[in-house]
Amino acid sequence: MNATKAKDHPKLDGRSAVLYRGPYRAPNRAYMKAMGLSDSDLARPIIGVGVAWSEAGPCNLHTMDLGRKAKEGVYYNKGTPRMFSTPLVIDGVAMGYEGMKYSLVSREIIANTVEMSINAHAYDAFVGISGCDKTTPAMLMASARLNIPSIVLYGGSNLNGYLNGKVLTMEDVFEAVGQFAGKRMTENELKELENNAIPGIGTCAGLFTANTMGAMAEVLGMALPGSSAPPAAEGIKSDYAYQTGKTVMELLENDVRPKDIMTYEAFGNAITALMAMGGSTNVVMHLMAIAHEADIKLTLDDFDRIGAKVPEIANMRPGGEHTMEDLFRVGGVPLVLKKLLKAKLLDGSVLTVTGKTMAQNIGAIKLGEVKNDVVVDATKPFNKRGGIRILRGSLAPDGAVIKVAAAKITKLKGPAVVFNSEEEAFAGVTKGIVKPGDVVVIRYEGPKGGPGMREMLSVTAAIIGRNLGESVAMVTDGRFSGATRGLMIGHVSPEAHIGGPLAFVKNGDMISIDCDAGKLDLEITKSEMEKRRSKWKQPELKHKSGLLAQYAMLVSSASKGAVLNP
Ligand code: FES
Repeated sequence: MNATKAKDHPKLDGRSAVLYRGPYRAPNRAYMKAMGLSDSDLARPIIGVGVAWSEAGPCNLHTMDLGRKAKEGVYYNKGTPRMFSTPLVIDGVAMGYEGMKYSLVSREIIANTVEMSINAHAYDAFVGISGCDKTTPAMLMASARLNIPSIVLYGGSNLNGYLNGKVLTMEDVFEAVGQFAGKRMTENELKELENNAIPGIGTCAGLFTANTMGAMAEVLGMALPGSSAPPAAEGIKSDYAYQTGKTVMELLENDVRPKDIMTYEAFGNAITALMAMGGSTNVVMHLMAIAHEADIKLTLDDFDRIGAKVPEIANMRPGGEHTMEDLFRVGGVPLVLKKLLKAKLLDGSVLTVTGKTMAQNIGAIKLGEVKNDVVVDATKPFNKRGGIRILRGSLAPDGAVIKVAAAKITKLKGPAVVFNSEEEAFAGVTKGIVKPGDVVVIRYEGPKGGPGMREMLSVTAAIIGRNLGESVAMVTDGRFSGATRGLMIGHVSPEAHIGGPLAFVKNGDMISIDCDAGKLDLEITKSEMEKRRSKWKQPELKHKSGLLAQYAMLVSSASKGAVLNP
């Protein structure tokens, strides 16, 4: 076929035509022919298949295989796929170490990498394959920013780990470290857990951040219905990958774009599902960041308002008992959506990547009546309110976030034990400095001050491991892993580095937490607060050069999704 004429696809007046049509573009075509592409291939739309891949951990080890399958779906439906990879951070590996500062940073790097690869090479549409925590929000952010026909496939979680008949996830290993430190577990027992907790490829098995974000891609309408819950090792994932490639060609054909799908109503649905499932607190920030790219105004108030009327209907780890594999076996994310649609808690009229509405998609999925305690009817919920609460008060004027779904106690008033970094706090907890009734404060771990809002999983797991989970609270301007449980409040805004009240807390100050009332207060007088503020000096940024320094200069508040301000 002559490369200047598109005969097999009616929509070839797209972006890539600029690079491959006419005699002046002979050099561009020559590069492509060096890779075995023909004039006929170049006359088709060129589809960028962006794969977050790495051998740094099991989460994204298989995503290249899914990418290749998605390429087949593109190719056999009249597109020419070109695969590219993005970097990523495996959160669980970087946890409890300086490297974790790069985790949230990676979200922006991945989104930027996709933007760069797609725009530099004038691809016509985008398929994003994700896995570990930041990769799914990043793919969705990039989709919204580029606003070319796009679809996302989440790579899926681990299968359940087992030891002596008990289901294990990585959360058990983190908490076991605390038990070991508290002399409640031997080193051999710890080793046994380490050897059995993660049986193979895929993301962490509970409803932690990666699995919650996978579900969100589906609820937002940007991933195929039913594609998120199958674990990475399930063969059906490969079928979804092929279908994902096929579907992006239909999106291109019909010129359906991410901003047609990711509307305010779609974000409302995502928040509803997040609350109903009791998902990760990180997702609050990620949804705000994706909405920001889609030019949708989403605030913490939206989470508060929706959370107040949505019951918690899923029994998922870390607050409950089940894993993503368990959810898959009883119907996956469509089961959750069926229950929420039935209760009229979702807007089923929103458009999705199938070209159909959410209600049409879910109506077409027949789920056998599987008796289960993974997801229950909204009429008999586990809790009347959603799993995440936004707290405000004198310690968090711009808001803070807690996963009440994973907390056994929801109120505490106690003396502050203040640490200026995660490392200090971990040492304090493992040495036994923290006592029942205390409120652990970890500050200067915010978006700018950290920088990068490290996740405090090592510290929270150590608290649980020392059997303090129901008597100690934590308050931080950092984040938590989706696997964190207990009365752990993160994203406290404004952060300490820019003079948020967290910076003025002293050891022994009383902190009052009331999740039911949505309150987080430092019990000192206003005049005392102002006195401390006037004496406070802003610390210098911790990094003077390199990526973390650039990030710290550009990043916004957690209460706004920690997006980068140009
Ligand atoms: Fe990747 Fe947990 S470390 S999902």
